[in-house]
Amino acid sequence: MIPRIKKNILKLKESSTLAINEKSKRLIKEGKKIYQFGFGQSPFQIPNKIIQTLKDNAHRKEYLPIQGLPKLRDKISKYLLSRTGIKYSKENILITPGSKEAMLLMHVTFNGEIILPAPSWVSYEPQAEIGYNKVHWLETLQMNNWFPTAQELEKKIKKIGKNKKLILILNSPNNPSGAICNNLKDLAKVAKKYKLIVLSDEIYTDLSFDNSYKSISEFYPEATCISGGLSKWCGAGGWRLGFLAVPDGLKEFMNSLKSLASESYSTVNTPTQFAAVEAYDGDYKDYKLKVTSILNAVGTFVYNNLKSNKILINPPQGAFYLMPEFKNKKYKNSAKLCDAILSETGVALLPGSDFGFKPNKMLARLSYTDFDGVEFFDNVKDCNSIDDDMVKKYAPNVVEGVFKLSNWAKNL
Ligand SMILES: Cc1ncc(COP(=O)(O)O)c(C=O)c1O
Repeated sequence: MIPRIKKNILKLKESSTLAINEKSKRLIKEGKKIYQFGFGQSPFQIPNKIIQTLKDNAHRKEYLPIQGLPKLRDKISKYLLSRTGIKYSKENILITPGSKEAMLLMHVTFNGEIILPAPSWVSYEPQAEIGYNKVHWLETLQMNNWFPTAQELEKKIKKIGKNKKLILILNSPNNPSGAICNNLKDLAKVAKKYKLIVLSDEIYTDLSFDNSYKSISEFYPEATCISGGLSKWCGAGGWRLGFLAVPDGLKEFMNSLKSLASESYSTVNTPTQFAAVEAYDGDYKDYKLKVTSILNAVGTFVYNNLKSNKILINPPQGAFYLMPEFKNKKYKNSAKLCDAILSETGVALLPGSDFGFKPNKMLARLSYTDFDGVEFFDNVKDCNSIDDDMVKKYAPNVVEGVFKLSNWAKNL
């Protein structure tokens, strides 16, 4: 018997980030040289002490509370307070198997509509669809650093209808643009005026190249939820440890999220939660500085060597992505453009259409993590002296791929 599948689920396709990774692997197997700029994963090792803490706690087999280990929630509460100045008490923090799950729980629980700035991470829209929440795209401009202006946001809200219950999702530093939002205060004003809930996806905020931590919660604490976790700054994506912090005024929302968590994954695995206590309690300033310095150096190399009259690109500000725009009339849409780039140069990119842009916008996401992060990390003695020669030595694939791409673009 064939099971009947719900329409909103049937619409989902495999996340394009995973699909490009699979396609790249296939081509490599066939003997092709591939520059893996499609898949975004931290290339660095998790700090040793955090790994050791995981090992030391591997024997723990008991279930933890649904909401998560109280000590971990307490550390995350302090971590957020130190970065944002806002107190999210440990009662208002939920530990989740990756922040992705936290967002899914939000979508399933929330009954309303979602404003997504384009560009946005690939999973927000499908998750909203799973939760039957209508998505309203808000396209941004390069000259505004790929974030909406307050006026654009207000116009969009008015168009949707002022009385709708809305969540605005903001992600800074941003996947895919690598940009940092510098008008958070203005956006917060509009959010407050129209009583939006904001989901501030801060999974990359510790990877801000100016080493600041900017969060919209500072300006709109009463209705900003923050998601984060170990996947990016700590390089522990596979550990699946994330969190959601909810403001006090949304307690009821938190209670429903908890019920949903208890009926799905029960609780996050115990050893990882103990290891995460170390990650949020220990002093990892030097580790983060080294990681951001390396990423900044590699990203800046990519930026300097791609920008041309054929490729428009903004300088990197955080995370590990850049979003080049190709000036051409040859390809009909960004997916076709990326396909041609992959087959003609071996460079794997993701098309801008996967991030909410209209298909005819010739944008692509470039992830500059195709290098041995452990080797690079071990060879940096002084974070201020990472030059192009070091990038060439320790990130040769990125360098070669970027040259291939810039040469290819000359013929556009
Ligand atoms: C913007 C953004 N948010 C959230 C996530 C999910 O991270 P995780 O579920 O590993 O915490 C990712 C992962 O790629 C991401 O790029």
